Amino acid sequence: MSALPPGPRMPRPAQTAAWTLRPGPFMLRAQREFGDAFTLKLGTEPPWVMLAHPDAVREVFTGDPELLHAGQANVILRPFLGRRSVLLLDGPQHLRQRKLMLPAFHGSRMAGYREMVAAIAREQVKAWPRNEPVSLAPRMQAITLEVVLRVIFGVRGTDRLDALRGRLRTMMERLMGGPSMLALLTAGPDRAERARLFRPILAPVDKLLHEQIRERRAAPGEDVLSLLLDARHEDGRPMSDEELRDELVTLLVAGHETTATGLSWAAERLVRQPDGWESLQAGGEEYAEAAGKEALRLRPVLPVVLRHLQARMTIAGLDLPAGTAVAPSIYLVHRRPELYPCPAAFRPERFLGDDPQGGTYTWIPFGGGVRRCLGAAFALMELRVVLAELARSLDAAAVDARPEATRRRAITLVPARGVEVVLS
Ligand code: HEM
Repeated sequence: MSALPPGPRMPRPAQTAAWTLRPGPFMLRAQREFGDAFTLKLGTEPPWVMLAHPDAVREVFTGDPELLHAGQANVILRPFLGRRSVLLLDGPQHLRQRKLMLPAFHGSRMAGYREMVAAIAREQVKAWPRNEPVSLAPRMQAITLEVVLRVIFGVRGTDRLDALRGRLRTMMERLMGGPSMLALLTAGPDRAERARLFRPILAPVDKLLHEQIRERRAAPGEDVLSLLLDARHEDGRPMSDEELRDELVTLLVAGHETTATGLSWAAERLVRQPDGWESLQAGGEEYAEAAGKEALRLRPVLPVVLRHLQARMTIAGLDLPAGTAVAPSIYLVHRRPELYPCPAAFRPERFLGDDPQGGTYTWIPFGGGVRRCLGAAFALMELRVVLAELARSLDAAAVDARPEATRRRAITLVPARGVEVVLS
């Protein structure tokens, strides 16, 4: 007989509220009471079996992707991302689409992107106010949006940059909260698509993206889109314009807010360590990368990843029924004291030296297996380059010595006060 592991006995609405408001402490409490596997009951979701042990996480990440669907969990985003988005597909279709995109995100490509990212950071930092309290989080978002526009989409001319920047901001704001998300949750993706609920937001974005695709096809550059235009399906076909449009929006949604949040947490933690910012200034890009990695450990942007079981399966010795969602808990794995001594302390040094911490199943801010974040190398490059550029030209101090709390913004966990600092 298959059975779910025990979990909190609170009623479903109370669990949903705890998960939404304070997912970290809620998971830690449940782990203390029920151990490394426990069941949560959330919203209208199937049961979530949380997994906090790296061995269980390995079983999920190396398990059969036909039985462990990830795309299904993102289906709510389909009206925005489109049917061909790599985030939404599962099985062989997913692998085909992913294979097309992998070369553009291979580690060997990062050297080509890095100078464009550094130039964007330098340019933005120049305009930031000095000697008065400022919020860094929206400024990090401006940097990562510019990176998407120029390095991923390859946009050049000022007019197209301005037009797309404005339209994409509006789209992301709608997607991240407010009435659009509520309408989407109420109607569901099928009805939202049939009713063309988001047409007024999406039509101008799509028009600009199609123009951009045509232009880059005629005159390719060093950007991600140009490489995607070179990609070929197994039968030799290039990606269609519709496929390209869906993957570009996917890269924006997956890569913009997440990377800005990683940058924000790294800054939030660094300005609260004695000598944190000074170490960043002295340590160059190597230290910047370690600080970025440690920020992703201690304040993971996404607390869990999800896989929906397509059939009954044994994981971590548990016999789980089809339909269950298994959730490797990034947050709990990253807080295991046997892996990370004094887990609540921010110590970039963990990721420096000959034997740095963080292995395939013990440091998992980017998930894992065939669904591991396509942009992981790209995101780490951004963290490294942007933090190092900031440290080169700025001193930074916290406005308030108290740490910033964690607040939920759509699915990501962000610093509650937007990273308040004084720059000089
Ligand atoms: C710090 C920044 C980022 C974090 C923390 C992050 C995290 C993640 C996570 C947890 C997943 C799901 C993995 C899984 O289910 O096992 C994911 C998937 C993905 N990410 Fe990222 N990501 C970041 C930046 C980026 C960037 C910069 C891009 C692209 C430019 C990107 C593109 C993607 C794509 C396309 C997927 C879907 C992969 C698939 O389903 O095969 N991400 N990311």
